[in-house]
Amino acid sequence: MSDVSVIGLGAMGSALAAALLKSGLSVTLWNRSPAKAEALVAKGAVAAASVKDAVEASKLVVACLLVYDTVYEAFEPAKDALAGRTLVNLTNGTPAQAREMAQWAATRGADYLDGGIMAVPPMIGQAEALILYSGAHAAFEAHGKTLGALGAAKYLGDDAGLAPLHDIALLTAMYGLFSGVTHAFALTGSETVPAEKFLPMLTNWLGAVMTWLPDMARRIDSGDYRSDVVSNLEMQAASFDNFIAASEGQGVSSELIAPMFQLLKKAVAAGYGDADQASLVEMIRTRPQVERQRAGG
Ligand SMILES: NC(=O)c1ccc[n+]([C@@H]2O[C@H](COP(=O)([O-])OP(=O)(O)OC[C@H]3O[C@@H](n4cnc5c(N)ncnc54)[C@H](OP(=O)(O)O)[C@@H]3O)[C@@H](O)[C@H]2O)c1
Repeated sequence: MSDVSVIGLGAMGSALAAALLKSGLSVTLWNRSPAKAEALVAKGAVAAASVKDAVEASKLVVACLLVYDTVYEAFEPAKDALAGRTLVNLTNGTPAQAREMAQWAATRGADYLDGGIMAVPPMIGQAEALILYSGAHAAFEAHGKTLGALGAAKYLGDDAGLAPLHDIALLTAMYGLFSGVTHAFALTGSETVPAEKFLPMLTNWLGAVMTWLPDMARRIDSGDYRSDVVSNLEMQAASFDNFIAASEGQGVSSELIAPMFQLLKKAVAAGYGDADQASLVEMIRTRPQVERQRAGG
């Protein structure tokens, strides 16, 4: 028996297996392309001939494959071996996929934890590597020490969908930031201002913007979009006309910022012209989130 089995040795799975080995744990491996196991076997891991063999080798099985369909496909021949084990799925997916896989694992008698890795492979094994978990709490408690070898483990709750929900929320925040920053670099670059020269001004500005987020969060939770508004949406929508015109005048496509302009116009048309930026959340969500929270949902 090994302490843990790792299914999937891509860039991330290999980093996970290496961190587990480095922490002194015994590790069994499986990957579709067996050659990827060789470097880890040289460090003491055991390569299994099949997913079934790998599952049978450990009470704790960590999967890190490309997408959920890949996980189902890989585990199909091993599904009867899962009973009495914990499956930790660190493959990127949606909350709905995680909940469905929790059901799938439960019908096979396995405890299930879903995970979201907020790190890139070189960070794995360090405290900076945040890994979000949700699902079977007892399994998280039982295997917390092993999972702690991968990075800072944070448990979010019994609902298996919570880890991917937070994972995707953090990633969408990152891509939103990248959209604006990419556009800003393109704009200043249109007048041959080097990106590195603009960078200090940009990072200071983004630091100031970050200090507004607590107020935004408070407004979203309370639904108070109209008290003490300092930058109302009508003013913002009018200014945005200039953002689009300036970009086009500088030869920069507005495709990264245009969706925000459309949403501002939609909000003003819907009667939010006197409201704060935080009210835009009402334009994009279809579930009455605040009401559900208040009802304890
Ligand atoms: N890399 C990152 O920065 C990062 C960060 C956070 C989260 N993640 C998540 O971690 C997961 C793995 O990412 P990665 O970077 O390791 O990807 P990767 O390097 O592309 O590896 C993909 C893995 O999936 C396996 N695979 C693909 N299709 C398969 C199939 N049909 N049957 C069996 N195995 C199959 C590959 O096997 P072969 O080796 O045989 O091709 C490989 O082990 C993804 O869900 C990703 O979103 C990655």
